[in-house]
Amino acid sequence: MTEVVGLGYLGLNATDLDAWRSYGTGVLGLQDVSADDQTVLLRADERGWRFAIHQGEVGEVAYVGWEVANSAQLDALGRRLAAAGVAVIHDPDCAAARGVEGLLRCTDSDGHRLEFFYGALVPKDPFVSPRGIRFVTGDLGLGHVFFFVTDLAQAKRFYLDVLGFRLSDTIEFTGRKVHFLHVNPRHHSLAFVENDKYAPALGHFMLEVTDIDDVGRTLDEVDARGVPLTETLGRHTNDLAISFFMKNPSGSEVEYGYDGRLVDDATWRVSNYDSTSLWGHHRD
Ligand SMILES: [Fe+2]
Repeated sequence: MTEVVGLGYLGLNATDLDAWRSYGTGVLGLQDVSADDQTVLLRADERGWRFAIHQGEVGEVAYVGWEVANSAQLDALGRRLAAAGVAVIHDPDCAAARGVEGLLRCTDSDGHRLEFFYGALVPKDPFVSPRGIRFVTGDLGLGHVFFFVTDLAQAKRFYLDVLGFRLSDTIEFTGRKVHFLHVNPRHHSLAFVENDKYAPALGHFMLEVTDIDDVGRTLDEVDARGVPLTETLGRHTNDLAISFFMKNPSGSEVEYGYDGRLVDDATWRVSNYDSTSLWGHHRD
């Protein structure tokens, strides 16, 4: 069992921060709490921030923040990684920059920077979505991330065997098998598929909202602003989320969805699906 309890935050690089500020607030419904013009900081809930968009051209994903419960769990995770031969760096300066109590970092099997942390800042000021959106976070963490990986066996070894994330299910289509992993009752906090055409890259990240009407209203906003829609509204076979996909200003996609299924480890059985969606999710 992993010490990780949820996806905590996401750091992205982008060349056009103004585009991100507008998209993050006006389309996604996140709250802009940026402190300077070099980084766009966005809130999604009671946490001080959940997304940091940095001015930069090299690589879209700056870092993925995975949360653990406390200092003892962070130490245990550090020992587990070190025992597996993963180079782990305790980084108090980075912890201060992220506004967390403790942080260690490493790279995953594709070189993406992972930050494991505990003690996130919860400010007094309430989260106020500029679009009145409420996101499903809390014990389920911040949505999920989907990666294109260069080597499926290496990714499985790192995330399943070393980190201890748990397999929810797989979807096999067009000769590729997508793996979905959970760390809490959210059906998946991480998914990956081997795809040489894109890897290594972030395919998308997902935000879950509490109201199906907010999926519809956001779809209207996407339409009105001319944001490229990459998959139409649909329902996934495995996590049963109703969602659509669109481009974000960093170049990857955002899945905006509702009603994701929960996993109970006591009774869960791994399945292998032959299609991504029960209906919809059409891609041009
Ligand atoms: Fe997804």
